[in-house]
Amino acid sequence: MKILVATEKAFAPVAVKLIREVTDAAGYELVLLENYKDPADLLKAVADADGLIVRSDMVTAQVLDAAKKLKIVVRAGAGYDNLDLASCTAHNVVAMNTPGQNSNAVAELAFEMMLYNARGGFAGKSGSELRGKSLGLHAFGNVGKFMAEIAGGFGMKVSAYDPFVTSEEMKKAGVYPCANAEELYRTCQYVSLHMPATEKTKKSIGYGLLSLMPPDSVLVNTARKEVIDEDGLLKIFEERKDFSYLADVEPDCKPVFEEKYKGRYIFTAKKMGAQTEEANINAGVAAARQIVDYFRNGNIKFQVNK
Ligand code: 3PG
Repeated sequence: MKILVATEKAFAPVAVKLIREVTDAAGYELVLLENYKDPADLLKAVADADGLIVRSDMVTAQVLDAAKKLKIVVRAGAGYDNLDLASCTAHNVVAMNTPGQNSNAVAELAFEMMLYNARGGFAGKSGSELRGKSLGLHAFGNVGKFMAEIAGGFGMKVSAYDPFVTSEEMKKAGVYPCANAEELYRTCQYVSLHMPATEKTKKSIGYGLLSLMPPDSVLVNTARKEVIDEDGLLKIFEERKDFSYLADVEPDCKPVFEEKYKGRYIFTAKKMGAQTEEANINAGVAAARQIVDYFRNGNIKFQVNK
């Protein structure tokens, strides 16, 4: 049995070591394709793989056509918008994710960006504090829950809006449940996005919601750039000098920000949310274990193409 780990953005070496322990123990061969630049390399490497572990790597119909023996692909992470699910199903390939495994790392990055921004990039000028400020969590899944926990330590007032989570669950986590997205944006100085990129959520955060935000607003995006309507975002930046945008992954309109809005944004060069040793270990090892459990016991608990 051959398991390929194909990661354009490599896992930390300690995570690879622990993934290898799982596959060795199962008697499987582990093959690595790390930091590859050319998608053609993936087409070659996947040709004789029975199982595949990826991160944000694109698993397209072309990849699945090339993977003649593939039976399972696991996205070591939460968002699986990089997997062509219909094509996985058509190729009889089980697709899975590893929900929750890198959520704390993502939540910490959101706070790192918020703190750096609040202190003006540590440039010497007087900044502001997070204590007492309002934080709105747009979606309250695994990352949202870690956000609420950390925000509690900072003394922030936390609200959330998520149509799939009950008010009771939010209240139990010490979070005020908003009735709708408008209420969240109207009442929170900081809004942090934690929804997946789906046909419904793509371009769903635009001028309508952002224009409701109070003075000195900060939009934090550690989700996906696709959920933002960038025309609406640029319109807000044009109208309001007190608006900041902190994003893990550059928006397509980055050149406009560079030209016009210096000091009002942070964009990580590569998606950094899950880039910690701990998150790499959690997600990578979970992916390897899920593959072994699937081949041995047929466990499809985390299958996403049902
Ligand atoms: C996720 O959906 O789990 C995160 O976006 C992590 O993506 P990455 O593994 O490419 O860093």
